[in-house]
Amino acid sequence: MRVAIIGGGNMGTTYARAFLKSNIVQADHILIVEKHDEKREELRKEGIAKVTSDINDELLKCNIIISAVKPQDFKVMAGELKKHLHDNQLVVSIMAGITIKNIQQLLGHKKVFRAMPNTPAQLGFGITAFAAAQEISFEDISVVDTLLETTGKSIFMKDENLIDAVTALSGSGPAYFYYIVKHMIEAGKSMGVEEPVAAMLVKQTMLGAFQIMNNSKSSLDDMIKMVASKGGTTEAALRTFEEKSVGLNIQDGLMAAEKRAKELSNG
Ligand SMILES: NC(=O)c1ccc[n+]([C@@H]2O[C@H](COP(=O)([O-])OP(=O)(O)OC[C@H]3O[C@@H](n4cnc5c(N)ncnc54)[C@H](OP(=O)(O)O)[C@@H]3O)[C@@H](O)[C@H]2O)c1
Repeated sequence: MRVAIIGGGNMGTTYARAFLKSNIVQADHILIVEKHDEKREELRKEGIAKVTSDINDELLKCNIIISAVKPQDFKVMAGELKKHLHDNQLVVSIMAGITIKNIQQLLGHKKVFRAMPNTPAQLGFGITAFAAAQEISFEDISVVDTLLETTGKSIFMKDENLIDAVTALSGSGPAYFYYIVKHMIEAGKSMGVEEPVAAMLVKQTMLGAFQIMNNSKSSLDDMIKMVASKGGTTEAALRTFEEKSVGLNIQDGLMAAEKRAKELSNG
């Protein structure tokens, strides 16, 4: 399998490294198109791919083309890419907010996938949800699934419209988690705990709690009850969260993210 990645930034490089690490694609079968000299030089030093500055006929040899440029750069890039595509290639977009239909129209190409990864992909702990154009076969879906899974988990969505919800849940999700961690650390500082100590306490707690959640058959409500004894400290914190509608406000935040994703997708 030969893969081209257009855009050698954070995400493009993450995928190239993951393909190589998982032995799914060999280094000289990965081609990265990146316009910045310094980024190309770094990629060359890493030896994870062949690198080029512009889209050219080399792309015709690739079975899969991943578009990893920023959404606002796609229109210009598509004008170039459409000259170097053939019908059997699979185009996989990881760009936020550009629909499969839009990509098909701009490229004049049918076999298009739309994927939404997240940043833990850098460490192999990502989750990517993806949708495919109508005309794509089960076999092609399976090939793309295997590629995306090299960065963590992947999940196929039959309904492309749900990619906006995915963007709100997992695409933006890491930032919500950092936000909660940040405020827990701030609270620790207000109580007189030094920042590095507060950070260690909170980060290890999040990791430990995640492990319990991932290994337990209990519901989240039951897990909360296990920590919050009657009349105790946790209960005091949870009562304050409820009084201030923290949970509902978090849900509102995610709804706002989904709404913004829809606005971006509709241009
Ligand atoms: N970061 C996330 O959490 C996340 C999550 C899900 C999806 N995504 C999507 O992933 C995509 C890439 O994000 P990123 O954070 O990796 O962006 P990035 O670091 O800016 O990488 C994109 C790279 O592509 C280059 N580029 C632009 N046009 C090009 C062209 N025509 N040919 C070759 N190279 C070109 C850019 O150069 P310039 O800097 O000069 O433009 C930049 O170096 C975005 O569409 C984003 O929506 C990101």
